[in-house]
Amino acid sequence: MYPFEYHNPTKIIFGEGTVGRVGGEARNWGRKALFLYGRNSIKANGVYDQAVASLRQSGVNYVEHPGVKSNPVLSHTRQGVEIVKKERLELIVAVGGGSVIDEAKAIAAGAVVEHDVWDFFTQKATVKDALPIVTVLTLPATGSEMNGGLVITHDETREKFGFAAGPLHPRASILDPTTTYTVPPDYVAYSAADSMTHLLESYFTHNDPWAPIQDRYVEGLVRTIMEATEKILADPRDSQGRATMMWAATLAWNRLANAGVGPFELPNHMMEHPLSGLYDLAHGAGLSIVLPAWMQWSARQRPARFARFARQVFDIRCDDDAEAARRGIEALRAWFNKIGTPTTFAQGRIPAEDIPKIADEAIKLGKLWGITRYTPEMLHEIYRLCV
Ligand code: NZQ
Ligand code: ZN
Repeated sequence: MYPFEYHNPTKIIFGEGTVGRVGGEARNWGRKALFLYGRNSIKANGVYDQAVASLRQSGVNYVEHPGVKSNPVLSHTRQGVEIVKKERLELIVAVGGGSVIDEAKAIAAGAVVEHDVWDFFTQKATVKDALPIVTVLTLPATGSEMNGGLVITHDETREKFGFAAGPLHPRASILDPTTTYTVPPDYVAYSAADSMTHLLESYFTHNDPWAPIQDRYVEGLVRTIMEATEKILADPRDSQGRATMMWAATLAWNRLANAGVGPFELPNHMMEHPLSGLYDLAHGAGLSIVLPAWMQWSARQRPARFARFARQVFDIRCDDDAEAARRGIEALRAWFNKIGTPTTFAQGRIPAEDIPKIADEAIKLGKLWGITRYTPEMLHEIYRLCV
């Protein structure tokens, strides 16, 4: 095991009926909040009414900033920063999925500096401080509710950049599984692909020859996410499935899976962000396209790792590592197709002739994230396996 530091300051409040706690949690951090949410889902399923009632009851005044779009954009973020500064707001209350929580983080960081918020994404500036954030998660997928990461897309250039910073951890996140009963089947599938990939990035790229805690943590959670997803798709109101998925997705990307494994990379996220950035595809849908192709390409160099995945996650019984790896990757692709998330460019409506442009964006992101082992030719080859 490698040495590590793990500090996760986010308080989690988990359980049915906990949305009403948002006011009390917000009140711990201030009396004037920016209330950030997406388009219509929280109004349609009643979460908006519950959150507003709780804020009022706790004496938290708020200014609404609705309309965060999926794959949140810089222009809407900048508007949020302006409102916070003008109204001298003290905290952000974010109610929604990963997009809303990510944009809350960008606003929280942008509101305490004079320079443009995009400077953080291009690494011209680093986040040293931020306004406090309290979240109500309504879509389990990204792990944003318990990490310091965020991803924003530049409206004009379509660059989709992300980074993580300690001060951006939410102070408290409310995880009420009943808020997720209305998440539609396509997003249930995309969320499974996203949370599974979060676990598998370090699992496939770390170099610790013996990491039983982390490897089994990942294998157990991947199997759990798959089981919970199937339960939810069979019955959207399956309370056990919804609750299990909610906590599993949080555990998948709160960095516990990575603690102690030493250096690792995020090649699938590096290759996916250009897809959701350029074509506004759901992030999880992009990942279910990229992940099996990247695994196929990587298994040629490191079959044993992918054979282990096949044996532990899909119960593949085969002594030959290369063959076991191949069957495991096929099983994963088949499962993604079964639950309804794409595995090819054609299914995701991504033009194959754009591969050079997509690869250029991935290289740009790789430079920012310190992933430099992939040449444009290698990326073209992997993307061609997605077609
Ligand atoms: O806008 P509304 O009306 O709220 O609808 C949303 C949106 O259309 C809807 N939705 C959310 N909760 C719902 C619901 N519909 C019905 N019932 C509910 N309870 O779902 C749609 C997708 O929401 P979104 O927040 O965009 O999805 P997700 O949580 O997957 O977030 C995706 C964003 O997070 C980034 C992605 O790149 C993408 O921009 N990521 C953030 C990470 C992080 N902070 O650590 C890591 C991830 O790897 C990821 O990159
Ligand atoms: Zn992701």
